[in-house]
Amino acid sequence: MDTVSKESYLRLVELLNSYSNQYYVKDNPTISDAQYDEYYQQLLIIEKTNLSWIAKNSPSQRVGDQPLSAFRSVTHAVAMYSLDNAFSDDDLISFLNRIEKEQTKQNKLVISAEPKMDGLAINIRYEKGILVQATTRGDGKTGEDVTDNIKTIRSVPLVLKGSNLPDVLEVRGEVFMSKLAFEKLNKKQLQNDNKPFANPRNAAAGTLRQLDSKIVSQRNLSLYLYGWGEISADWIMPNSYVEILNCFAEYGLPLNPESQKITGIEGMLFYYQQLAKKRADLPYEIDGIVYKLDDISLQKKLDFTAKSPRWAIARKFPAEEVWTDLLEIEVQVGRTGAITPVARLEPVLVGGVMVANATLHNMDEIIRKDVRVGDKVIVRRAGDVIPEVVAPVLNLRPDNTKLFEMPLHCPECDSEIVKEQGKAAYRCMGGLFCPAQRKRALQHFVSRKAFDIVGLGNKLIDQLVDVKLVNHPDDFFKLRVEQLKSLERMAEKSANKVISAIESAKKTTFAKFIYSLGIPEVGEVTAANLAQHFKTLENLKKVDVESLILVDDVGEIVAKHIIQFFQQLHNMEVVDNLVSLGVHWQTPQEKTVNANSSFANKIIVLTGTLSSMGRGDAKKQLEALGAKITGSVSAKTDILIAGEKSGSKKTKAEQLGVTILTEAEWLAMMAKD
Ligand code: IVH
Repeated sequence: MDTVSKESYLRLVELLNSYSNQYYVKDNPTISDAQYDEYYQQLLIIEKTNLSWIAKNSPSQRVGDQPLSAFRSVTHAVAMYSLDNAFSDDDLISFLNRIEKEQTKQNKLVISAEPKMDGLAINIRYEKGILVQATTRGDGKTGEDVTDNIKTIRSVPLVLKGSNLPDVLEVRGEVFMSKLAFEKLNKKQLQNDNKPFANPRNAAAGTLRQLDSKIVSQRNLSLYLYGWGEISADWIMPNSYVEILNCFAEYGLPLNPESQKITGIEGMLFYYQQLAKKRADLPYEIDGIVYKLDDISLQKKLDFTAKSPRWAIARKFPAEEVWTDLLEIEVQVGRTGAITPVARLEPVLVGGVMVANATLHNMDEIIRKDVRVGDKVIVRRAGDVIPEVVAPVLNLRPDNTKLFEMPLHCPECDSEIVKEQGKAAYRCMGGLFCPAQRKRALQHFVSRKAFDIVGLGNKLIDQLVDVKLVNHPDDFFKLRVEQLKSLERMAEKSANKVISAIESAKKTTFAKFIYSLGIPEVGEVTAANLAQHFKTLENLKKVDVESLILVDDVGEIVAKHIIQFFQQLHNMEVVDNLVSLGVHWQTPQEKTVNANSSFANKIIVLTGTLSSMGRGDAKKQLEALGAKITGSVSAKTDILIAGEKSGSKKTKAEQLGVTILTEAEWLAMMAKD
């Protein structure tokens, strides 16, 4: 290699650090990983021959040479406190009321709302801008020196940027492991015959306790800052929490982009709802929201209790994973005969909802997880999905647990249960003879996206099938008030209501009609595509594979299901009866696509927050111009419309060379169209 000057070496250090900052702090990479590695290798070569040049902020300094034999214990310059918890809106209201008593101004309180990261608190000390020490929280007064490990976190600057730095600056934040890093780590643990970690928090804790920082550097810890410890008096501290954190950001320190400045109780409740919705999609786990008063002088006035500040509170999300007893495993028969094992549980609150049943998915899963009747099990409920049994708690397994065996006959109709070849699924062979399958098919027929008959709940359908008033969907339209009235728990008023709901459901759309038939693999979207393509029931009845596979979303398997459905005489009978009993719809309109629009036939992804309208409206407007909106960026994507705070989708689009439009650019193009 040519001789290199110290200046160009230092420039290389700066360059690599700015790439890292773009990647890890700004979430906006400017070069590829391969390019970065190439520069990094050059740097190592220069450093090897010029040991005296090695800069404190060189990326090579992130990994320590020698594993430690133990962590040193360190007394914190300023104690590290914990937070008080709020479990309800009322708790938040009393928190605000307490503060308002201390406040002389009449304005609404300004508050910083931020995700409560599920990780570990850390204190990082910079002296004259150089990272000198990082310590865990420990008992709040004394923690452990984990400097080598924290230095491996690429978003943490080894040297701060900027000119107005205080002599001493201690920043505090949460070390955590992203969901992605956690999954990768657990995969590796399994490959190497090591025990997987139970959750990202345990993985982060275990990693931070590694004595060898080389191992830590491979595990991808992350960090967001949310506070400070000691700051020397030479620094002029702004009187606003948010402004102080913004100064940290200017020094190159990483903050959570989800944090927001809000006002009053309305702001707090709104932020909670928004974040609760977003929770499952965040790339890391959170267990709540932290609200902090922005006004520093008011913070000082309120001060701390023995344990926590009076100017902050953590609103916890309800737990989504709990332990309970598995009392029995029973099987449920689905609409197409698929048998699902279901765990009957000692009822327990999960994420604020009482759960007594949870799915075990299928036989393979039961075997893989080794779940047995009598086990203490971990139950999870995430968002709207059905609660599931995650795993047994093995160290609490009693002696008398029972293995589950798949029954040989359907519990509902006694038909044989058969395992599908090459699949995990078992199926009841009873077909529409099986009352369970019939009931599920009828439930599907009246469900919201199908005929949407309110008042025809599952219990009533069970009754109607059991007394043989309804066997097939068309029977609903033959029901009379007197028949309903004769059922148990059915008064005249509710019978009238049900009959009139059935009457008004006769007016439907062709798409909903197709969906309601419950043809295997024909979901809402496929049904809409079929309706749009074939326009009339007569056309649909005589389709063949060739014409079907021209429809969006329809492949050979779906095509076969559709043809099989219309070949069955009894299905044809039901379909014809429905129409002769008065079910009707308008022939679908041709979609008018403006072929001149820049968005016609383009595959578009929306990401980030749009300021002019919600995602739903943006989607509708684009679809009206003939665009197709999808959820994830791939090589097929034509355009990414990136709102505020776009993250990984934008990065991916850049890597794939997809056209990226800002919200303003997109609106301008639409205006021209
Ligand atoms: S502020 C004196 N902000 O929650 C204020 N803590 O239950 C101390 N945590 O020990 C903490 N996200 O480990 C704060 N945005 C956030 C946080 C946060 C997670 C953790 C932190 C703290 C614990 C208290």
